Amino acid sequence: MSTSVSVRRTTNDYYRALYSRTAEIKARYQALTPRSHALFDRAQRVFPGGYTRDSLVREPYAPFLAEGIGSTVVDADRRRIVDLWFNATSLPLGHAHPDVVAAVERQVPYGTAFFGPTEHELRLAELLKERLPSAERVRFANSGSEAVMMAIRFARAFRDRPVIVKFEGSYHGSYDDVSWSVSPPVEALGDGPTPGPIADSKGLIDSHDRVALLPFNDVAALEAFVDAHHAQLAAILVEPVANRMGLILPDPAFISAARALCDRYDIVLLFDEVIAFRTGFHGAQGEIGVSPDLTTLGKIIGGGFPVGAVAGRAEILELSRPGRQGRVSHAGTFNANPITMVAGLATMQVLTPQVFADMAELGERVRCGLREIVAGLPLLVTGIASLFKITAIGQEISNYRDAVTADKAWEGIASLALYNEGFLMTSSLSGCVSAVSTREEVLRFLDTFRRIVAW
Ligand SMILES: Cc1ncc(COP(=O)(O)O)c(C=O)c1O
Repeated sequence: MSTSVSVRRTTNDYYRALYSRTAEIKARYQALTPRSHALFDRAQRVFPGGYTRDSLVREPYAPFLAEGIGSTVVDADRRRIVDLWFNATSLPLGHAHPDVVAAVERQVPYGTAFFGPTEHELRLAELLKERLPSAERVRFANSGSEAVMMAIRFARAFRDRPVIVKFEGSYHGSYDDVSWSVSPPVEALGDGPTPGPIADSKGLIDSHDRVALLPFNDVAALEAFVDAHHAQLAAILVEPVANRMGLILPDPAFISAARALCDRYDIVLLFDEVIAFRTGFHGAQGEIGVSPDLTTLGKIIGGGFPVGAVAGRAEILELSRPGRQGRVSHAGTFNANPITMVAGLATMQVLTPQVFADMAELGERVRCGLREIVAGLPLLVTGIASLFKITAIGQEISNYRDAVTADKAWEGIASLALYNEGFLMTSSLSGCVSAVSTREEVLRFLDTFRRIVAW
């Protein structure tokens, strides 16, 4: 099959070629996943619309998964599928890595949760402190969302200021104060330099006095806004790898400007590395050479178990020191539970600089292969280190307003077609490799994608 479409077609014609196969792709999916279908029918009687996690929603229904082994999962219909998303990037060693299994099996018979600290939490926190030079202190939570919520509380308490600067199109979990302008519809965007916050959910209370929205990668807009409002600003919250905007990176000038503004006005620079921490041994901050005041972590540091953490400057995190007047409170029944801690520690110990380098090299192989396949087509390949994304768009992306013009429906159909052929990615074609992903899997994936884009 040829790599690219030989006859030049318009962008819309190109996307339509796959659309025209939607019914066939869905029918094949349904034929391959009858047990998932039956489970989904049952799920609709207990979960609203059949789901209890938004990111899993896909048409006509999500595949139910039964097992994970290394780089693959087995679905409810007993098909083995190559995993290219690893529970939303959270499993850098793949599924059921022997070291993680052994660590958890060692701990389970001796208790899974205590009303008391354990040495395990200390060891994982010490490891994080070593790897992240900006992490002078750490506090654990149970999810990335919780970590973001706590980091924002710390930032507001630090100089007693209310407003968080967030960027349009950035996703930081499900806390109310970051659930603004995550994926607003094009027609709601307006065109001022400081876009108004657009609720990403019903049930949010107006946040104009607590959250300010700015366009990503726009140094002038950031400087103008911060210069004018710094007395109210608690934090600038940035994702060093902007996942929902298409796994794009901030321009170095943009990140440097954010750092300089935070220094000038004593604002907390808050990096959300819940995903980005998998991009390097010292996190994304080590790769881009900018040190934040606070960092939120999650996903990989829990070794496959629910986790979150806030790490950062002692001066800020010490605001939670017990006995302190006006302290920042932070509780949680399962914070630093021993199962998460031993699994996280086992995972992080396997993740040496060499393993990060190997994952990044395999990720680069995927991106290079994809770029060769999409050359001349209205498809864009982005990502960094072990992360990659294919976006149905005919231009580069530097912010949400670019990203929102992508053809999401095309991505969804292509993703379903990939599942039919045995590859699991998100329905917007985000993917990642893990330390157990193989070159052979990558070659097969590229070959399959090559066939799909040529349809
Ligand atoms: C950048 C970022 N921050 C925060 C979160 C929320 O983490 P969790 O899903 O563990 O609550 C996510 C989840 O994908 C994320 O990508």
